[in-house]
Amino acid sequence: MKRSRITGLGFYVPDNVVTNDDLSKIMDTTNEWIIERTGIKERRFFVEGVDTVSSMGAAAAKIALDRAGKKPEDVDMLVMATLSPDYFFPGSGVLVQRELGLRKIPCFDVREQCSGFIYALSLADQYIKTGSVKTVLVIGSEVQSNVFELSDRGRNMSVIFGDGAGAAVLEAQEGGDSYILSTHLHADGGHAEELMLEHPGSKLKERISPDMFEKGMFLPHMNGKLVFVNALKYFPEVIREALAYNHLKVSDIDLFVPHQANVRITHAVQKEFGFPDEKVVSNIHKYGNTTAASIPIALTEAWEEGRVKEGDLVCLASFGSGFTWASALIRW
Ligand code: COA
Repeated sequence: MKRSRITGLGFYVPDNVVTNDDLSKIMDTTNEWIIERTGIKERRFFVEGVDTVSSMGAAAAKIALDRAGKKPEDVDMLVMATLSPDYFFPGSGVLVQRELGLRKIPCFDVREQCSGFIYALSLADQYIKTGSVKTVLVIGSEVQSNVFELSDRGRNMSVIFGDGAGAAVLEAQEGGDSYILSTHLHADGGHAEELMLEHPGSKLKERISPDMFEKGMFLPHMNGKLVFVNALKYFPEVIREALAYNHLKVSDIDLFVPHQANVRITHAVQKEFGFPDEKVVSNIHKYGNTTAASIPIALTEAWEEGRVKEGDLVCLASFGSGFTWASALIRW
């Protein structure tokens, strides 16, 4: 039976470091408020004239391909997770394809926001298991700071989110013990408007007009408390689902790589499962919440630090806009 193995990882973050103190100079917030509520100390914002979702995704992908010993012509499929594509259409997958010089392969754009990377990983895994492709590039990349209003009105979102990209190379293999054991995907559109960017969209059934900018309809909106409560419900649920599916126990997990939503959410999940600190990857203090990029960035950093060893059981989990939530168990 064919299975998928992650053979290369890479990430890229913009050079533009924005600290909490930088933000407190342009909006009514403080370093203390942001650290206490989110755990974030600084984040990266795209460098104007330099960084786009596709350029950052391609940069991360080049590193991942190099580490996997693969060339662009070896890639059979690309799955790109982003909520902030370079263009409203076409998707950013084809732009990464062009930038990397990939063959005329299928290129998907996956939305699913903070769960985007696990959704993309799952899609790649299914294609590999059916035998239709052998090597897949999976990317999560976001430029979110370009739509934030860096003002008091936009402060509840703009202090939390950041920009960056991460990538993984998945390869088909027969036999062996290192592979993606399973992925588990969920969604509930009942809360779609609780974490969203309304425009440009068609839901209002109106033509876009200049006053929509004034009304803030091009700014993201988040019901932070509702997101928090649901994250605490669904993170544990989808981790337990993955463990039960594979007949594994909580203590079997060697490394937990959650979507870096908010350090209080990570700590609550960590406490619920009794994970010691060394089993939990947290880098939100450096990058903020990078949505679809957060898991591949965190996984790559953990791998670079030697925290992911052959034979380890790695658990990925996410929750975000949609609402969507997901998990993956990987035997490294
Ligand atoms: N700086 C300072 N004060 C801020 C602020 C900021 N950046 N953003 C909001 N506030 C203010 C609010 O205006 C409010 O003031 P008020 O009491 O005078 O009305 C006060 O802080 C408390 O706001 P509230 O929204 O109740 O804060 P909270 O304790 O719920 O924390 C979040 C806000 C967003 C940090 C919290 O809800 C959260 O972590 N939610 C989950 C978000 C998340 O993880 N999103 C990503 C999902 S993938």
